[in-house]
Formats: sequence, structure tokens, C-alpha cells
Amino acid sequence: MKVFKILCATMILILGMFSGGCGEDSQNSGKRVVAVCFPNTTPSWQRNGDSLKKLLEEENFTVNVQFAGTVDEQKKQVSEVIESKPNCMVIGAIDSAAFADVLAPAKEYGIPVIAFDRIIFDTDALSYYASFDNEAIGDAMGLYFESALNLKNGGGPYNIELFAGGPADNNAHLFFKNTMAILEPYFKTGQLVCPSGQMNFDSVATADWNSANARTRMQKLLTQYYSDGKPLHAVLSPNDDIAGVILDEIQKAGKPSPLISGLDGDPAAYERIKAGTQTFTVAKDPDVLTAKCVRMIKAVVEGTQPDINDVKTYNNGVITVPAYLCTPQIFDKTNIDSAK
Ligand code: BGC
Repeated sequence: MKVFKILCATMILILGMFSGGCGEDSQNSGKRVVAVCFPNTTPSWQRNGDSLKKLLEEENFTVNVQFAGTVDEQKKQVSEVIESKPNCMVIGAIDSAAFADVLAPAKEYGIPVIAFDRIIFDTDALSYYASFDNEAIGDAMGLYFESALNLKNGGGPYNIELFAGGPADNNAHLFFKNTMAILEPYFKTGQLVCPSGQMNFDSVATADWNSANARTRMQKLLTQYYSDGKPLHAVLSPNDDIAGVILDEIQKAGKPSPLISGLDGDPAAYERIKAGTQTFTVAKDPDVLTAKCVRMIKAVVEGTQPDINDVKTYNNGVITVPAYLCTPQIFDKTNIDSAK
């Protein structure tokens, strides 16, 4: 009898371990679970979250999407998610450099992690990276300015102010570096002039990509450098959210809309392009990116083949992460009617 009781207790323990620890969703009878941790900093992240959830549910996954506004909040979410042992995790990191330690247990438990849109540094826990071609985005912005201002043919001088994204996000550095590689020669020739003199990444970055910070900086630029009636011909904006507040302040100051960039393809940006205030946006279709990410998730969970088109660019300090880099699409007044 005693042996029988011990056997029963052991069986119950083993069954308990399997139902709680194998990552399947107990309430959804064996469905595989994907945990998604994204920032909530811009409208584009909400669209990415919605699109990923929809596509994964169509593939019969259970999806748990969480958003965070600060690094600490996101670290807490990621740690809790790891302990729930999902079959796969997808992370859009608020800070590219803050997740190495937090992800160590994921590696230990064998939970595959996919970096979404932003790379995560200093960890070997990443299986794949799904993103847009961030260097190409920077190039696209620089080339648009070069062409629209006719710089190759001696256009200028034009007054320009520069904004970059959040310093904790690797993408922000790539965008700015590539755009500036194209524009820098024209500052040297005097075809582009930056009246504030604020031209390096640190002086033009927007902490946390928070548009309120960009608004404050734009107000200061306008009062300090443009209140004497000096024209502002062009503004480099790192995304649509920030372009919106920059344009708002320029309008309040009674100045005409400059040539201004954007990124993401926010519906509000499409409206501004149609209205003629924002010049262009580099659109990142969430369905294009999430479809590639779903292929990666299926690869790690089901052993299928993911789409990969880059195995050399994204060395995160520990490993070179196999990536799929999607191609963005530029929309301006000439093709805005085809934007979805
Ligand atoms: C993304 C942009 C986004 C920005 C702010 C960047 O990492 O690549 O698309 O606008 O973060 O969330």
C-alpha cells in the first residue's frame, strides 16, 4: 500500500511538471505559446503587435502580447515571461544593451528568442533577428534630401536642422549614421547649413524616442535660431511620430512647412503627406515584417526553414545573428494614394 501511495504521488508530480513546464497553453489544449514583449513608445509598435498576434493565431499559436514604456518595466515583463516557459519569445527591446542578463535564463531553459525590429546586444540567447534594413532606411532619407534639394547639381544653401531617435536603440544610430554619410559632403561645401550647429548624434538624439522631448527641442531651436525670420528649409526627422510634433511647432511659429522626413508609415503621416505638410515617410509595413517573423517562430518551434537574407551585418558582440531584413517603401505626394 505504502509503495502504491508513493507511486501515485510520483505520477502526480511528473504529470504536474509536464502540464506546467512544457510551454503549452493548458487552457488551450496543447497550443504552442508565443510571448511577445514590445515597447509602447510609438503607434507603429501597436500595429506590429496586432499584426503578429493575428498571423500567429491564424497558425494556431496562443499569443501573449505585452507592451512596456520603460526599460525596467520591460525587464520585469521579460523575466516573468521566461518563467512561464513559452515555446518562443519575440522581443522589441526598449534598450538594445539592457537585456543580456535578463535573457540568460531563456537560454538556460532552451526558450528560443527572436529579436524584432531592434537587435539585442551581448547575448547568445538570440536565434534570429527580424527587421527592416535599417542602414537602407538611413540611406533612403539621405538620398531623398539630396535629390529633393538638388544638391548633386549645386543646390543650396539651405538651412537644415537634424533630429535622431533614442540613443538606447541601435536602429537610431544606424539611421543617422547612414543619412549623414550622404549629407555630410554638402555641409562641407556650404550647400547645407545647420544654424544651431547641433549636428552630432548626441546633440540631436531624442531620449527614448519620446516625441515630447523632440517638441521641447524644436521650440528651443525656433526661438534661439529662427525668430529673426531666418527660413528653415529642411528638417531630418527620424520617424513620423516626431515629424508630427516638429511640424506642429513650426506651424505655431508661423513658418511654412519645410522639407521633412519620417519613418514608419503612420496613418497620421499619410494624412500630413496628402495635406502637403510632411514631405515623405519611409514606410515599414507591419504585415511584411511580421510574416517573416512568423516564419522564424515556426522554424524554432516546428523545425521548418525560416527566410534569412543576412548572415553578416548584425554581430551583437557575442554572435552574428541570422536576420531577415525587409525592404521599406517611400511614400510622398507622388504615390501616397497607393499607401495602404
Ligand atoms: C524603429 C522605428 C520606430 C522607433 C520608435 C525604432 O527602433 O525602427 O520604426 O519609429 O523605434 O519606436
